Amino acid sequence: MKIGIPKEIVPEESRVAAVPETVAKMIKAGWEVVVESGAGARSYIEDQDYEKVGAKIAASPEMLFDQAEIVLKVQRPLFNDKKSLHELDLMKANSILLAPLFPTRHPELLAKLNAKKITSFSLDMVPRIARAQSMDILSSMSNIAGYKSVIMAANYLGKLFPMMTTAAGTILPAKIIVIGAGVAGLQAIATARRLGGVVLAFDTRPIAEEQVQSLGAEFVCLQTSHAEAQDAGGYAKEQSADFYQQEQAVIQQHLKEADVVISTALIPGKPAPLLITAEMVKTMKQGAVIVDLAVEQGGNCALTKPGEIIIKHGVTLIGVLNVPGTLPIHASQLYSRNLFAFLNHINPQRHVNEWDFTDEIIKSCLITHQGETVHPSVQQVKLPAG
Ligand code: NAI
Repeated sequence: MKIGIPKEIVPEESRVAAVPETVAKMIKAGWEVVVESGAGARSYIEDQDYEKVGAKIAASPEMLFDQAEIVLKVQRPLFNDKKSLHELDLMKANSILLAPLFPTRHPELLAKLNAKKITSFSLDMVPRIARAQSMDILSSMSNIAGYKSVIMAANYLGKLFPMMTTAAGTILPAKIIVIGAGVAGLQAIATARRLGGVVLAFDTRPIAEEQVQSLGAEFVCLQTSHAEAQDAGGYAKEQSADFYQQEQAVIQQHLKEADVVISTALIPGKPAPLLITAEMVKTMKQGAVIVDLAVEQGGNCALTKPGEIIIKHGVTLIGVLNVPGTLPIHASQLYSRNLFAFLNHINPQRHVNEWDFTDEIIKSCLITHQGETVHPSVQQVKLPAG
């Protein structure tokens, strides 16, 4: 079977779904691999690097999609303005697609996938269970985003992070608040500590305390009961409006002292909880920086804007989208390793059209198959009219 790696068409996307390291593994495992010319360019990978490990290069998206029986993507398939065609229109009927589709947010994709009988796996839906860790693209990307959020904050902060004792006197360390100590939050804490900052972290899940403290940060738990804080899958549960108001008051007490705030609070499938209001931003130090990683889900801070870096009330508000894309070399490397692990798990060469619907990983990610939407939670999504 032939795997196709198209060039991503979103202008700000610098990642690629397979790097030479994973292409070599695919070829060793018996796949043929075709890569669209220039697909790796923004991750600093040239066509020749793919050719050296045995891949073929397709000169255009048409030539790529025409051959590919399995397509691996970083972004969901989109309308290609330059070609006046949707990427799904170019895909072969009955082919297989692996990409983060976020199908409940983009139900318009389902009709197109089903019309072409494309078997689609949505990689954002890989369950966070031990045996799926190597396939978990969201964790890989959040790790990178957590690290880069602190680097961005340090870049915009007009201060040093570490304490410094100099001939001109002592400089106190920067104070960093991290809201949400999940994957991105823990990496942000670790990075801020490595830079010498003093870190305080908030989370609703009491279980996060030990992880936060092991990284040398102070922890403020916002919820005392484990059962109220998280679901069976370990994800945070949505709380009441009253709870969020009380949380804002607790955060407010510490905000006045903060030089940097990294906010990562997430409830899967819900808008991000609003934890920093406009009034709270007004009380912050002049020159402070907020990096709102939850900006794509509406943001944890009322004033951050998706895709923008702005200054309000003397505070720099960073709402950069696709943070992993700012580190494309490692982001592509980790992403492609996750995809390769997923590919090995589903093993389409052996199981094509005979998926094991009892397997938790396949069951969680398989969205469309043989012209039907098969994922129960996606079946409930209303399709757009027309
Ligand atoms: P995660 O689920 O591992 O962590 C989220 C954490 O927030 C959990 O520990 C949860 O308990 C905590 N939380 C939930 N409600 C809270 C509240 N009210 N107060 C305090 N903590 C609360 O999620 P992950 O993977 O770390 O992602 C975090 C955020 O970063 C998400 O919004 C994700 O979409 C975003 N992200 C953004 C990127 C970008 O490029 N802008 C890239 C990667 C992730």
